[in-house]
Amino acid sequence: MAADGVDLAGEARLLDAMVAPHSRILDAGCGPGRVGAALAARGHLVVGVDVDPELIAAAEADHPGPTWVVADLAEFDLAGSGHTEPFDAAVLAGNVITFVGPGTEGAVLARVGAHIRPDGVVVVGFGTDRGYLLADFDEDAAGAGLVLEHRFSTWDLRPWSPDAAFAVSVLRQPADVA
Ligand SMILES: C[S@@+](CC[C@H](N)C(=O)[O-])C[C@H]1O[C@@H](n2cnc3c(N)ncnc32)[C@H](O)[C@@H]1O
Repeated sequence: MAADGVDLAGEARLLDAMVAPHSRILDAGCGPGRVGAALAARGHLVVGVDVDPELIAAAEADHPGPTWVVADLAEFDLAGSGHTEPFDAAVLAGNVITFVGPGTEGAVLARVGAHIRPDGVVVVGFGTDRGYLLADFDEDAAGAGLVLEHRFSTWDLRPWSPDAAFAVSVLRQPADVA
């Protein structure tokens, strides 16, 4: 895909522009590590979480450097595996939020939010025609205590339009969260 000119690092480049150098970034639903590896290559400390052990094994084999963890995003707690410091940012790329168990999206956003420091950012991209309504996402994000700050229709920041086939939502953890 890279040889065909597909932009495999677009999500990472956006995150990199939004955070300080050497930030702590959670790659939520990391799969084989495409996004997390691109963030680590830009100098960030990355922890990737995925429910599929085979994909985590692939990430470990292909992308040494980040920490890759097998866990379900709907119930994970990285403090239990020694990652007690909150993250500066999280990314859910590649439609992850539409792959989690139906009805668990709110729990996933809440668990991701629980790992983000006050004033940290969570960026979520997914196709709007994949069965998870944007209105439901907005409700779930608000229920998780995250504030919608921006929305775009692509990872390279084309303007949002209600008929867009894809939504990139930038959510912020309130600065005064406990
Ligand atoms: C299309 S892949 C995206 C992978 C990666 N983020 C990327 O963009 O290349 C969706 C990923 O979500 C993961 N996933 C689905 N449900 C999950 C859950 N409940 N907890 C953690 N990961 C989950 C899948 O295992 C899969 O790796």
